[in-house]
Amino acid sequence: MVKKLKLIDSKGLRMDGRKPDELRPIKIEAGVLKRADGSAYLEWGKNKVMAGVYGPRECHPRHMQNPAKAIVRCRYNMVSFSVDDRKRPGPDRRSTEISKVAGEAFSSVVFGEQFPRTSIDVFIEILQADAGTRCAGITAASVALADAGIPMRDLVAACAFGKVQGKMVLDLDKEEDNYGEADVPLAIIPRTEEIVLLQMDGSLTTKELQQGLKTGIDACKQIYQIQKEALKRRYAVILEEEETTEGDA
Ligand code: CDP
Repeated sequence: MVKKLKLIDSKGLRMDGRKPDELRPIKIEAGVLKRADGSAYLEWGKNKVMAGVYGPRECHPRHMQNPAKAIVRCRYNMVSFSVDDRKRPGPDRRSTEISKVAGEAFSSVVFGEQFPRTSIDVFIEILQADAGTRCAGITAASVALADAGIPMRDLVAACAFGKVQGKMVLDLDKEEDNYGEADVPLAIIPRTEEIVLLQMDGSLTTKELQQGLKTGIDACKQIYQIQKEALKRRYAVILEEEETTEGDA
């Protein structure tokens, strides 16, 4: 007989010891790529993500140009060694979908009108995946957009919530995602709490969804603080470098 995997123990804790509404540890470093206009590296639990932003730059192919504003394009990609089985290189349905929804989330915060006919290209590379990679990617790319100096209404912060063995939980890991009943990625504009991405795999009751949204929004606000801290550290380094250069002159 196959033994049922116990994802929540008798004390209500999860397999990695987290409480139901606890996030995995998150670390973000902004400005890690020399050749990108903006970049960020993020570790979120066992997820490892690199994000690079290029632009605003002349949009190619030309027929995609919008004379009224910049277009925001996103490419989400999982590298071959990011998952247990080798991931076949190149786009697939899942990465095309994630690229589309992430690009739409960024379009809702970027002031594109300031840069007509240009493109802002966002690249999300998942180096190591352990569920929640679209939220991790969006969170990292949003810091990379700010690092590139792209004018935005606010950052976008993302986090998933879901249901595992009848209990609502925040930020599902791989086992919870595989064996749970629902996984709901969420991205918001933290300042206004506007939702810019909401997807659902599985099913929840209306009450569960409302409860999950509340916890998810609170979590996004915690993540927002970590994003802002990463940007502050980045600008402290830039200021220090400028002061040293001025001192040398
Ligand atoms: O990563 P996210 O939760 O946003 O998306 P998902 O489609 O729910 O995928 C959940 C997890 O399944 C990923 O984070 C990977 O760890 C794993 N996965 C995989 O092992 N192989 C794939 N081709 C796609 C996903």
